[in-house]
Amino acid sequence: MQRSSADGHLTERETLEERVEKRKFSEAALKEVESTTSSYPVTDSAILPLLHIAQREFGCVDEEAVRLIARTLDVEPLRVKETMSFYTMFDEKPRGKYLIEVCTNISCSLLGSDSLLGYLEERLKVPRGSTTPDGLVTLITVECLGSCGTAPVMSVNGEYHEGVTREKLDDLLREIGV
Ligand code: FES
Repeated sequence: MQRSSADGHLTERETLEERVEKRKFSEAALKEVESTTSSYPVTDSAILPLLHIAQREFGCVDEEAVRLIARTLDVEPLRVKETMSFYTMFDEKPRGKYLIEVCTNISCSLLGSDSLLGYLEERLKVPRGSTTPDGLVTLITVECLGSCGTAPVMSVNGEYHEGVTREKLDDLLREIGV
């Protein structure tokens, strides 16, 4: 929507309400949403499956997606956010082509994951929890990948890399084009 700014210039900034209004599920996703919501007698139980659908559909669950889910289920957006906050698989912003998850729990930490993480931040030139400007890599930390015996462990798009060293990390980064 066009608006006049303080200096009289026209701007093209959309409000959140306008962006929410435009956000829609595709036909296919909508069918899935309808069959999901009809199979749960309690509305709140459908929040989690709808979060999965939104993540797949939009590549993230941003504010617009949260509002869309809330409107679909007739619940408060806060309720959707509360459910979302329990899980690490939902992204508030679009993630990079490669998602690198570094385990920082005790076994991995004792065996050097902190230093590997620092090295990754240096190589990628972004801090943990963010995505490289070219959209290639998102770097996050996670609590225990369930492979403590082969620490330090990280995963790239769900594929595990165990007993990681700097040398292995260099090979890995080369493979994904960093
Ligand atoms: S502590 Fe890292 S996989 Fe369990």
